[in-house]
Amino acid sequence: MLNWDEFHEDETAVAEQPASAAEQPAAAEPAPAPQPQAAPEGVGESAGRYAVAEEDRLARARKSLDELDVAAGLEELEMGAARIEVDDKKMINARADLNQLVPFKYEWAWQKYLDGSANHWMPQEVNMNADIALWKSSDGLTADERRIVERSLGYFSTADSLVANNLVLALYRLITNPECRQYLLRQAFEEAIHTHAYQYCVESLGMDEGEVFNMYREVPSVAAKSAWSLKHTQSLARPDFNTGTPETDQELLRNLIAFYCVTEGIFFYCGFSQILSMGRRNKMTGVAEQFQYILRDESMHLNFGVDMINQIKIENPHLWTPEFQDEVTQMILEGTELEIAYARDTMPRGVLGMNAAIMEEYLHFICNRRLAQIGLKEQFPGAENPFPWMSEIIDLRKEKNFFETRVTEYQVGGALSWD
Ligand SMILES: [Fe+2]
Ligand SMILES: [Fe+2]
Repeated sequence: MLNWDEFHEDETAVAEQPASAAEQPAAAEPAPAPQPQAAPEGVGESAGRYAVAEEDRLARARKSLDELDVAAGLEELEMGAARIEVDDKKMINARADLNQLVPFKYEWAWQKYLDGSANHWMPQEVNMNADIALWKSSDGLTADERRIVERSLGYFSTADSLVANNLVLALYRLITNPECRQYLLRQAFEEAIHTHAYQYCVESLGMDEGEVFNMYREVPSVAAKSAWSLKHTQSLARPDFNTGTPETDQELLRNLIAFYCVTEGIFFYCGFSQILSMGRRNKMTGVAEQFQYILRDESMHLNFGVDMINQIKIENPHLWTPEFQDEVTQMILEGTELEIAYARDTMPRGVLGMNAAIMEEYLHFICNRRLAQIGLKEQFPGAENPFPWMSEIIDLRKEKNFFETRVTEYQVGGALSWD
């Protein structure tokens, strides 16, 4: 655990003390606060104890600060430097100061930020030894099982980068609410952890990295999903794109639905259920455990996205026209079809107690859920969930680990001790 003493020692170790490091107070004792006093002519701020920046540099820095126009800088904020009220806050097109996190308006967004942070994990905590032995043995997995592992890592190793890029380069600036942005930053870091997890699996298993990371361009069933997601980033990522008209606000909603409901809400579900089914059969349990943590994060991303979409609908009911609802329903159907094609490609035969037909019903069930979550009509009424264990894994708490391995509890382990 990091403690204050170590922190302080590290700090003094890094800073060069050219003349008299030995005269410094002991590391455990905080240095006395400097007393303000006029520096004698020619001596400078250090009173000779340490070297100071060149006079010319300091003069230029001070001149620049003299010229800083604080009032003009704050005028850049849409509402000047005024204190904001809850009613000033809006999901999109807000004119309130976005640098003031509180007062909260959307408690659900802040709560998800707290919940996501409490679920922190890192890929290296998962033991991959059994997976490495199984992957390298000639008869450990069938050819169909190996195909599933390769395709999953191939799709996911780049899919999370597409999601992260969409968040950071397209979405973030257009969501005009600080508590939602706080969650978006948390989500962006989780996407980095997910990409790390896939890279860690690929490296541990000694797979061909070039082949895996290029599958999103080279394997048709994988490339089709990636291309569909990328298509929905393009207009928002243009530097001149802005919301504020019904057309551009709807374009933002399309992006949210394409990424949260389809990419994270449908495209991840065939691969996740295949790998988790493998883990349930005691195969590739390390990879399966990584996927289990990722799935838990992803279900929170999805729920956050659904909350954002529904809140934007509440605040902008004119956007949710019958034509737009029809178009969005089609988008979700397209995503479902792409995922079914991926299921067929990855499961030409029955494997792991699954086959493409069972997966198709599962994806129809998932499609219904996504439509219903944003208030649209189910397109496959009566479709049932053939994998109820997936719901159990999504809801799993970290301390009740499915594969009974231990994970560091970051909320406690990361605390700083001051004694
Ligand atoms: Fe992710
Ligand atoms: Fe995600």
